[in-house]
Amino acid sequence: MPREEPLLAPRPSSEQSSIRNAEEEDALLTGERTIRTERGRRWGFWREVGLFAWAFIATIAVIVIAVVYQHETNRAQSDGRHSWGPGGKPTGKRNLVFMVSDGMGPTSLTMTRSYKQLTQGLPIDDVLVLDKHILGTSRTRSSSSLITDSAAGATAFSCASKSYNGAISVLPDHSPCGTVLEAASLAGYKTGLVVTTRITDATPACFASHVNLRQYEDRIAEQEIGEHPLGRVVDLIMGGGRCHFLPNTTDESCRGDDRDIVAVAKENGFSYIDDRKGFDSLNGGADAKLPLLGLFAEKDIPYEIDRRTQNDVYPSLEEMARSALKILSAATQDSEQGFFLMIEGSRIDHAGHGNDPAAQVNEVLAYDKAFAAVVDFLNEDSTQGVLVATSDHETGGLAVGHQLHITYPEYLWLPGVLANATHSAEFAAQELANHLDQESDKEAYVRNLLRKALGVEDASQEEIDALIDSHYELPPSYVFADIISRRAQIGWSTHGHTGVDVNIYASSTKDAWPLQGNHENTEVGSFLANYLDVDIGATTKRLQESEFWSYSDSSSEVDTGATSEMGKSFDWLGNPLGEDVRTEGLDTYHGDYKKRSLGEQCGCGAVH
Ligand SMILES: *[C@@H]1O[C@H](CO)[C@@H](O)[C@H](O)[C@H]1NC(C)=O
Ligand SMILES: *[C@@H]1O[C@H](CO)[C@@H](O)[C@H](O)[C@H]1NC(C)=O
Ligand SMILES: [Zn+2]
Ligand SMILES: [Zn+2]
Repeated sequence: MPREEPLLAPRPSSEQSSIRNAEEEDALLTGERTIRTERGRRWGFWREVGLFAWAFIATIAVIVIAVVYQHETNRAQSDGRHSWGPGGKPTGKRNLVFMVSDGMGPTSLTMTRSYKQLTQGLPIDDVLVLDKHILGTSRTRSSSSLITDSAAGATAFSCASKSYNGAISVLPDHSPCGTVLEAASLAGYKTGLVVTTRITDATPACFASHVNLRQYEDRIAEQEIGEHPLGRVVDLIMGGGRCHFLPNTTDESCRGDDRDIVAVAKENGFSYIDDRKGFDSLNGGADAKLPLLGLFAEKDIPYEIDRRTQNDVYPSLEEMARSALKILSAATQDSEQGFFLMIEGSRIDHAGHGNDPAAQVNEVLAYDKAFAAVVDFLNEDSTQGVLVATSDHETGGLAVGHQLHITYPEYLWLPGVLANATHSAEFAAQELANHLDQESDKEAYVRNLLRKALGVEDASQEEIDALIDSHYELPPSYVFADIISRRAQIGWSTHGHTGVDVNIYASSTKDAWPLQGNHENTEVGSFLANYLDVDIGATTKRLQESEFWSYSDSSSEVDTGATSEMGKSFDWLGNPLGEDVRTEGLDTYHGDYKKRSLGEQCGCGAVH
């Protein structure tokens, strides 16, 4: 007769219950049933006592081990052994080169690699220099959006902080954050910025200036040459964007006032060069004097695909990078500290905004050459150093593969189409704008332009009409780019940025060990400061505590009385956008998915 057991046992005491739980847990682990018989219970008592003692001792042991391990880990991290991997954190004099490929996503590499193999007759295992130095990936979202702009992207690198789209090294509360370049300069490093866009554009701006909105390029120019709360922090500047340095009384100016910032730079000690002749006078860097301001274009330096036929007018990114390295190296030869140099392949992003694959492959190749030049320099230099390179975001939603028809697509894309183009869509559109009106046979002119600039012989009537019709819904540069992209079977999802992770590269894995794997973009910024052993936090404090500082006449801008949490005025950062601009928290769905025609205010790559 089966023994009766109460269905509902009295509630066990908490002690029994914890033993019971331990027993159940044990059963789960061993797969054995817990013992429920009377005899089993007597045996079970001692078993439970034993288990309890075992569990108690094991818990103590785990806690002790965890505490000891944590302590060891902290110690290892603070002397740089753990986080820095096999090489250890460098000590002594060192140089850091940080390269940014603006808007270059993983697909840009695939496209450019195949393009290079085709055009140079290389085997399939011949890869880009970048490919040989891949280290990790970076997550790029900003504080205000899952898709960042270049300003928030560069602020993550310069300040190691997330901020809102449009922020130039200011935090979401509109207070300035210290940058790695400023901290390096204060610590005695020489510093440099080399770009192919305007030196006042978002990426370079984020290293050496602070404004609430990237559009305040006049203020950025002033800060870059030393009208800055910390004084002059940049020693070497090379790039485009001359127009923000020239007074509005001159033709080339895009300033809102009549200040001559080039003259101010000269007063601050800068040597100034503004053309190829001036660049060549540096003699590869041997004859340069710091501080140096080199502004080689009114706005952007032309795309590499167009620049290569104007080499006598504009230096290449590689040439600028080589000279900058030589100049900074010589300038720090006898000092305790080395240098920090930021080099940007700025216009990979622009080619992405323009959806122009022919322009982009040439931008990426130019960037790859500059990257190789830096690696060469580091290999030969007697001072230790590291090169870290990454992108702020992807641009264009580039796809290597494009379904052109309703029928099942072919598995191919055709780099030969890109190889046949001798100019960018931007260049072709400029030619069109300059000449179309004067042409009597517009169709013949357009067909000839397509042949000469893009290598396209088979334009359809619709394509020709779209280029001739000044009211067509897309600007000619987009039509030219689409003509190339379709024939190459290259796809694009947007004229803006996308949220895909981007690659991180380094001259050596050993020297950039902490950046292996997948990282938040701010961790790249932390690495830069950490490598140089400089304190971004202390620089932020200095900036925020500097007496109210403003050189510009701010009366022209709306005074919103912006204050940080400390109640301090940061008017010198410019109008902090106003109340209706969101700087934190993600945007939400607006129900706006329908196709919209391109209105009057086509963004067309105005903000990158
Ligand atoms: C040039 O700048 C001055 C202020 O510096 C301003 O008064 C003037 O209107 C500007 N001129 C133009 C054409 O923008
Ligand atoms: C490139 O141009 C040549 C010469 O016009 C032409 O024969 C060839 O088909 C073109 N290649 C592609 C992929 O369009
Ligand atoms: Zn960007
Ligand atoms: Zn962009």
